[in-house]
Amino acid sequence: MSEKRPVTMEKIVNLCKRRGFVFPTSDIYGGLSSTYDYGPLGTELKRNVKEAWWRYMVHERTDVIGLDSAILQHPKTWEASGHLKSFTDPMVDCKDCKHRFRADQIPDAAKCPDCGGPLTEARQFNMMLKTFLGPVEDSAAVTYLRPETAQGIFANFANLVDTQRVKLPFGVAQMGKSFRNEITPENFIFRTREFEQMEMEYFIKPDEAEEAKWFEYWVEHRMNWFLKFGAKRENFRLHQHPKEELSHYSRGTTDLQYRYPFGWGELEGVAKRGSYDLDQHANASGKDLTYFDEEAKARYRPWVIEPALGVDRAMLIFLLDAYDEDVVDNEERIVLRLDPRLAPIKAAVYPLLRKGGQPEKANEVRLDRTALSAPGRGRHPLRHHHRS
Ligand code: GAP
Repeated sequence: MSEKRPVTMEKIVNLCKRRGFVFPTSDIYGGLSSTYDYGPLGTELKRNVKEAWWRYMVHERTDVIGLDSAILQHPKTWEASGHLKSFTDPMVDCKDCKHRFRADQIPDAAKCPDCGGPLTEARQFNMMLKTFLGPVEDSAAVTYLRPETAQGIFANFANLVDTQRVKLPFGVAQMGKSFRNEITPENFIFRTREFEQMEMEYFIKPDEAEEAKWFEYWVEHRMNWFLKFGAKRENFRLHQHPKEELSHYSRGTTDLQYRYPFGWGELEGVAKRGSYDLDQHANASGKDLTYFDEEAKARYRPWVIEPALGVDRAMLIFLLDAYDEDVVDNEERIVLRLDPRLAPIKAAVYPLLRKGGQPEKANEVRLDRTALSAPGRGRHPLRHHHRS
């Protein structure tokens, strides 16, 4: 299946640097392990990916509202959510070459995959990045950079229900930065310590039939989003997590996996979170996090279906599926066949000559607000250019 695919990670990384999509962060200081900056084209592409997601998940629906919660949350959030105790990866070190691995990512947990040397016992390593609020670095000031955006939604559940006249089923979407102290960040922007997420918590009646229905709906709906914006179906498959792989909050998870040049890997997860998070926060805060069901005249904590995606990963797969090479006039060139809605540049206005007022005219066309704000309607930018 993979024979004809021209793309490799190396080609994408090089293209991204050469054209100003993605630069290694702190490049002048030799970079900072697996951290990246988005250049002018990457910034536009990323904005377009986020816009496409927001439009599809929020604006084109009547049952989803948006939220933008803080990266810093009360430290109790992470105790209640279970992240302090359970958001860990098993870490091992090689006693000879000192390389570090995630025990669950290597074939033999007793032998170093690099040099064959003996490994230490696995230790659980918490992935949250710690920080201190205020000038005193003592334990009272400790908090964490959020490892997922989701908790800001659960912590606001009462605010949302009280102010928004929402009726089940309804969703709350948000996007923003998340941070994880990954043991082995890898593969360019696939796994980094600072990344952006687009997540939606879809609240439903606490009922297994409802849960199964909406779970299936969101898995399919999310797949359709990728296909709508130019991703290739043959590079996708679904992976259902076996019980031992489930996150601490999940009753069932299906990943949309993508065939990266380095192999199949997670792109997006759709999880059944039940009422786990609302239960935990209600117990820890003592606040009422129930929903009043008018029809049933009953109060309960809804269950949740959560599609959760990394912006950077989405960008990576759109680039991978858009990458092509062809030959024009005996010259090889790289073509990015991006969907126009995602493409960082949609159209260009070139003056034929760099004199005679032409560059100014071209700028005038470029900045023509009426043409920009009403594509396909009103004045066509190029026709307008010729007339004036
Ligand atoms: N709220 C659920 C949650 O955070 P997750 O599967 O841990 O679930 C969701 O993360 C998505 O976020 C992943 O499918 C992936 O696209 C992205 N993601 C997670 N860790 C990442 C990392 N270290 N670098 C880049 N993207 C990451």
